[in-house]
Amino acid sequence: MPHILEADKLVKKYGDLAAVDGISFDVEEGEVFGLLGPNGAGKTTTISMLTGVLEPTSGTARIGGHDILTEPKAVKQINGLVPQDLALYPTLSARTNLQFFGRIYGLRGKALSERVEDVLRVVALTERANDPIEKYSGGMKRRINIAAGLVHQPRLLFLDEPTVGVDPQSRNHIFESVLQLNRDRGMSIIYTSHYMEEVELLCNRVAIVDQGRIIAMDTIRNLIGMLGGGVIQIGLERVDDEMLAAISALPAVTGASRVAPPAPATAPEEGPAVLAPPGAPEPTLVKIESKRSQDALVQVIGCLNERDVAFTSIEIFEPNLESVFLHLTGKKLRE
Ligand SMILES: Nc1ncnc2c1ncn2[C@@H]1O[C@H](COP(=O)(O)OP(=O)(O)OP(=O)(O)O)[C@@H](O)[C@H]1O
Ligand SMILES: [Mg+2]
Repeated sequence: MPHILEADKLVKKYGDLAAVDGISFDVEEGEVFGLLGPNGAGKTTTISMLTGVLEPTSGTARIGGHDILTEPKAVKQINGLVPQDLALYPTLSARTNLQFFGRIYGLRGKALSERVEDVLRVVALTERANDPIEKYSGGMKRRINIAAGLVHQPRLLFLDEPTVGVDPQSRNHIFESVLQLNRDRGMSIIYTSHYMEEVELLCNRVAIVDQGRIIAMDTIRNLIGMLGGGVIQIGLERVDDEMLAAISALPAVTGASRVAPPAPATAPEEGPAVLAPPGAPEPTLVKIESKRSQDALVQVIGCLNERDVAFTSIEIFEPNLESVFLHLTGKKLRE
């Protein structure tokens, strides 16, 4: 697959602050690529450099084979930008706004009106197209903002946190549009968000950005895979060593151990089994580490049924992109 984008050591400095501190990544043609990172990570600054809004302090990028610094005109035709902040004229209708954006790209006459009607359909707002933007809900404004980035048929679309402050219905519409543009029209998409659920749903590969740098970049599956499997914590009516050994031996299980109930405040959250004080009942909470928790769960339940042991509680901790971020940085994506 050829690369639609190759970013090469992009840097943006504001005085002493390196908002973007040497970011390099490639995006394949037809890919939905995620930039995931907390507030202030440098996502918007990166996109702004790639779309010609900001000049890099150093580094460059090639888009569709064109250098962003020396061939900005060619790059502008390939890129579509949906900025984080709305860029629409509130008193004008959606249709008029979109016509305005199309004219900036040199579209006129029939070609312009066809493009405007097409993007209105993409964001499913044809019926409201004559209403002024100021009468739109926040989510509808976002959708028109997306349409505006699509009028000139870009090959590479940058969506900067398109679902912030958006109602669930418009959010679903936005997901649909993104998937449809990618699947049906082969559009390459760069999607930034600090919602890991969205990135997990939409993106093939992800760069996790923190403090102006990419700290990890891979497919979602591989990123999550580097944390190992999930953990199941199960409360049993009784447990003995034979049963623990049997659970440990299940194909999807990598280890099983007793854990003390979460009584003492100083007890470590994770780690080896904690010994119960003398005279206390045997702990019946079991921690099961697995390659994949769903598979492990089915096997564990089977094992319990064979021994006629009931469970009293069950909790599943499946790693996700949030846990990857926590693992890499020691902090949460959204504080
Ligand atoms: N014009 C500017 N002048 C000075 N500092 C800036 C400027 N623009 C951005 N920054 C700083 O650069 C860093 C990166 O900002 P950026 O907007 O790229 O982050 P982001 O990842 O898009 O965050 P968010 O999720 O909040 O949109 C932040 O520390 C920000 O304060
Ligand atoms: Mg931003």
